[in-house]
Amino acid sequence: MKALVLSGGAGTRLRPITHTYAKQLVPVANKPVLFYGLEAIAEAGITEVGIIVGDTAAEIEEAVGDGSEFGLDITYIPQSAPLGLAHAVLIAREFLGDEDFVMYLGDNFIVGGIADLVGSFRENRPDAQILLTKVSDPTAFGVAELDASGKVVGLEEKPAQPRSDLALVGVYLFTPAIHEAVRSIEPSWRGELEITHAIQWLIDNRGGVRSTTISGYWKDTGNVVDMLEVNRSVLEAADGGIDGSVDEASEIVGKVKVEAGAKIAGSRIVGPAVIGAGSVITDSYIGPSTSIAEGCRITDSEIEFSIMLSGSSVDGVRRIESSLIGRSVEVTPASRVPAAHRLVLGDHSKVQIAS
Ligand code: DAU
Repeated sequence: MKALVLSGGAGTRLRPITHTYAKQLVPVANKPVLFYGLEAIAEAGITEVGIIVGDTAAEIEEAVGDGSEFGLDITYIPQSAPLGLAHAVLIAREFLGDEDFVMYLGDNFIVGGIADLVGSFRENRPDAQILLTKVSDPTAFGVAELDASGKVVGLEEKPAQPRSDLALVGVYLFTPAIHEAVRSIEPSWRGELEITHAIQWLIDNRGGVRSTTISGYWKDTGNVVDMLEVNRSVLEAADGGIDGSVDEASEIVGKVKVEAGAKIAGSRIVGPAVIGAGSVITDSYIGPSTSIAEGCRITDSEIEFSIMLSGSSVDGVRRIESSLIGRSVEVTPASRVPAAHRLVLGDHSKVQIAS
């Protein structure tokens, strides 16, 4: 069995973070979301992985390399434009050969991995096995309709009037039957070859589609609150450990990971939290559910329930909460007179000011 991981496309939803960043590399608890998927694939006993890459190919290849770090053998498959998930299957035909495969969308996060799912697919081998989860806004997803016995009878892509609240999760298991399906469908209104339509083709022409409903799922729907929540739940399950330095004037409470080369001085850190490699925290408070990436500086400040990406700094600011701070951002207090906010914000930024 092989895996096909989709890491092409252009990120728009987590703007402005993904203006300059492959969305599959957005970190959850200081690790790119894509890495959790690759680890889940390795855990399920799959080693041969094809990664679909687009405009951000260089970034993805730099982060993932040849896959040996994950115990995987990776083949990069360039896609000229994001022409749809079924288009990705079409161009991966040679890589996939006649093997069964799991298709994993690189911006999806599934709590608990996929080993059980892959196991049950291997036993039953339906043409396709899909994953479903209840969501509050089904219009942003593929949506499944089940009959009274729980069988999938219909699938729609981003319907304006969804027939259920069961969204398609971005992990699909296929036998080679999917290849005829992806060749048989036409592009949708949004100009993409939709995998949802290919699976509907399997339902209509062969009938062998099974579904499993899960909880514990996240994808980049643009909702920062969701992202902070997935960061919180991953931090809660992660191990703490001090690999950097913590001086005597500091206090570490609960599960806190201080990565190598990070320095904590005169500060209080309450876990679960992670402080990235080489970051320096001085005379500050870092509260629960916070991920500080590598190379950050936090001085004389307070930050809680937030994510801060690499190379950013906060100096003399209290207090930051429920925030997502991008890379190489600087946050400082304004001078007292005039009492004004001074902002240099990129396109699509969102700011809430307590005034
Ligand atoms: O995440 C689950 C949803 O994924 C499903 O509910 C939908 O049915 C399915 O169509 C898909 O919807 P999105 O529109 O949200 O997919 P998105 O464009 O975000 O692409 C998903 C991943 O696949 C992302 O990592 C980018 C990558 N991709 C996407 C396209 C369209 C490619 O590599 N190539 C592509 O052509």
